[in-house]
Amino acid sequence: MGITRRKLLIGTGGVAITSVAAISAMAILGPKISDWVTDRSVTAIDHVNPLAIPPLYEGEQSGVTRQFQLTLQEGTHSFVDSKPTKTWGINGDFLGPTLHMHRGDLVQMSVTNNLPGESSLHWHGMHLPPEMDGGPHQPIAADTTWKPTWLVDQPAATLWYHPHPHGETADHVWKGLAGMIIVDDDAPANLPSDYGVDDIPLIIQDRRFDDDGEFEEREYAFGYFGNRIMVNGTIGARFEVTRETTRFRILNGSNTRWYHLAFSDNRPFHLIATDSGYVGDTAPEITSLLLSPGERAEIVVEFTPWDDVMLRNVSASQWKLSDYGTDQDFDVIRFVGGPELQARVEIALPTRDTPDDSAVSGIRNFTLNGHNSINDAEMDMARIDEVVTAGTTEIWEVRATDFASHNFHIHGVTFEVLEVDGEAPPTYLRGPKDTAQIPKGKTVSLLMRFPRYANEHFPYMYHCHVLRHEDQGMMGQFLLVEPGREDDVDTTLNTHHQH
Ligand code: C2O
Ligand code: CU
Ligand code: CU
Repeated sequence: MGITRRKLLIGTGGVAITSVAAISAMAILGPKISDWVTDRSVTAIDHVNPLAIPPLYEGEQSGVTRQFQLTLQEGTHSFVDSKPTKTWGINGDFLGPTLHMHRGDLVQMSVTNNLPGESSLHWHGMHLPPEMDGGPHQPIAADTTWKPTWLVDQPAATLWYHPHPHGETADHVWKGLAGMIIVDDDAPANLPSDYGVDDIPLIIQDRRFDDDGEFEEREYAFGYFGNRIMVNGTIGARFEVTRETTRFRILNGSNTRWYHLAFSDNRPFHLIATDSGYVGDTAPEITSLLLSPGERAEIVVEFTPWDDVMLRNVSASQWKLSDYGTDQDFDVIRFVGGPELQARVEIALPTRDTPDDSAVSGIRNFTLNGHNSINDAEMDMARIDEVVTAGTTEIWEVRATDFASHNFHIHGVTFEVLEVDGEAPPTYLRGPKDTAQIPKGKTVSLLMRFPRYANEHFPYMYHCHVLRHEDQGMMGQFLLVEPGREDDVDTTLNTHHQH
């Protein structure tokens, strides 16, 4: 079955299955395979289930360090019809706690792997030394503990954590391993920040269940797609708003699906932050936004007493992205207001500094090919693709071929999106960001200043965050090195760890 499926996936033209041989192969694989290729629809459900709020975990201060104990574990969880589903979670059955850190904290993580096999844990969006990053070069074997430590030194932002094992990220995230990270700082701001009350995490994911209630793994070139939408693990979620001004930290934690989000009454809302922090000193008002896997957005919404409004995926979106399900209309989460809401808050954002484009020292070009390679190369853990001088400013131009849209995440750095095919990006894509949407056939230019964590032996990753694509090889590696070392570093890594 593995070989047959591989053939189906790899043919040029991707998922368009044309030959008679391919069609009879489909029959062998089961009656539903044609749905796998075309069905992005979502099963409607009453939104009556109280939204789960992941526990807020502040860690324990011990001397100069703030310590977090995280355990990757197996569990079971009932999502629908009370049928138990086998899941994975962090310090629980499904997903993990929201980690709260403050700029200036020296954090020490202790990650214990109680899963049956190897995994890893990556701090998506965190600026830290590469050996602490939790990517494929920091595997955590079963029954062992990994203890990375770093100084939190970046502006307030909503980040997240998830496994990043070589070639198996899609599977580990689908089983339930993911959680949010809130970094805050002392920059003066006036924003709702009462976690679980008016500062609400929304981790949006999709899943599909088989008849036994287990997560079904239906995949093709684009990866796992679900027909049930969950927010923080709650299917048919409903949240009762108690404050007129409420902030939502939205994370697209899905493997594959992109969301084009808007309210059912089309009310405007303020965009206050994107992946790497606040958008600037004024928060633009928008009525919809598009989020691809791995991206975050923080929004502030005004509610009224007795409000009743649905956050939905709406089909009209700027780019044609039917591959990722944005041509669908479906409900995500319902918000209702009580008879009395705590009064409105006037929001204020801190100013932010953006990289200076007169400091650009170079431009690099990346082409996302098919669904499995970048610049015509598949990910190789032993090969360094790019060597970057620590502390410098660069422009990366990332192009998706006409085959498909993708996104592009870079570890350890924050960027601004300058242009999408020569035009200004939509408001929600300007930055600060660590993951950018790269629409099919378009070139997106990213401006970034690299941090100073030079290390010649451990690379950072860049990749498409459609998890099946990154697993199939749409990923590359870069080293950050001290000035003057660019031509001397060894670009073949001696990896003792390979699959
Ligand atoms: Cu969210 Cu390389 O990952
Ligand atoms: Cu990352
Ligand atoms: Cu992709």
